[in-house]
Amino acid sequence: MSRVAYVDGRYVPHSLAVVHIEDRGYQFADGVYEVLAVVNGHIIDEEPHLVRLARSLSQLRIVQPVSDAALKIVMRETIRRNRVDDGIVYLQVTRGVAPRDHAFPRLAKPVLVVTARRKRAIDPRIADDGVAVITIPDIRWRRCDIKSVALLPNVLGKQLAKEAGAYEAWQVDQEDCVTEGTSTNAWIVTAEGTVVTRQAGNAILNGIVRLAVLDIVRRENYSLVERPFTVREAKAASEAFLTSTTLDLLPVVRIDGEPVGSGMPGPLSRKLRDCYLVHTAAAG
Ligand SMILES: Cc1ncc(COP(=O)(O)O)c(C=O)c1O
Repeated sequence: MSRVAYVDGRYVPHSLAVVHIEDRGYQFADGVYEVLAVVNGHIIDEEPHLVRLARSLSQLRIVQPVSDAALKIVMRETIRRNRVDDGIVYLQVTRGVAPRDHAFPRLAKPVLVVTARRKRAIDPRIADDGVAVITIPDIRWRRCDIKSVALLPNVLGKQLAKEAGAYEAWQVDQEDCVTEGTSTNAWIVTAEGTVVTRQAGNAILNGIVRLAVLDIVRRENYSLVERPFTVREAKAASEAFLTSTTLDLLPVVRIDGEPVGSGMPGPLSRKLRDCYLVHTAAAG
């Protein structure tokens, strides 16, 4: 089946979908994006994604090129044209095309690109076995709350993880505290059973799955603290896990080669994963 992309007002064959060489996303990473999960043809947690998109755009003073209502139509149409039942929809907004100059161009029109693809369903064995993470210095800028397409440190970090035989790299700030993964939020469960994840702020992307899992943790009445945690604390934790739109919730069983807790996915991680899957199934 041939794929279709939405590029700046048109649906075009994916293989022919192009943007201009002076698109500021290409030259300056001057743009933002969202990745939304599609389950049974339905978009999961669309509203919080749109809220985050609007926030990222406003922080960079990029005008949203189409209304939320139009964006919803474009996403649905892109999903339909690509026959995605379970997968992801990717949307990106850049400041637009203009002669290369660092300062904002006066006349550029923001460019919207939307793609959708079948995917998601990660091998259930990965969730059953849990994954390994390594820790690396967080070399990113101080506005990680903006979902910008400037992902080079994240790319380098994920590659380091891959080369180390790990699934993800947890980035660590100058206080030796974990900020987040390269494309995931980081969580631990202390020996006392308290769920800990770093509070929203400039140091992390406030993940949409993070928000959904926080709701579940509160609803189920587990003890919860949003605060930074050190690498040492993570290694001594009874459980650890990561969250993201593409991975849902995955138990972390090794950090820098050292087992977390029993070295097997912990009961709370499993329970929260199950609850999160119920949440996505209900929406789908
Ligand atoms: C740096 C970073 N942190 C966290 C996340 C998880 O965010 P979400 O739950 O919205 O997918 C992502 C997702 O891409 C990310 O890139």
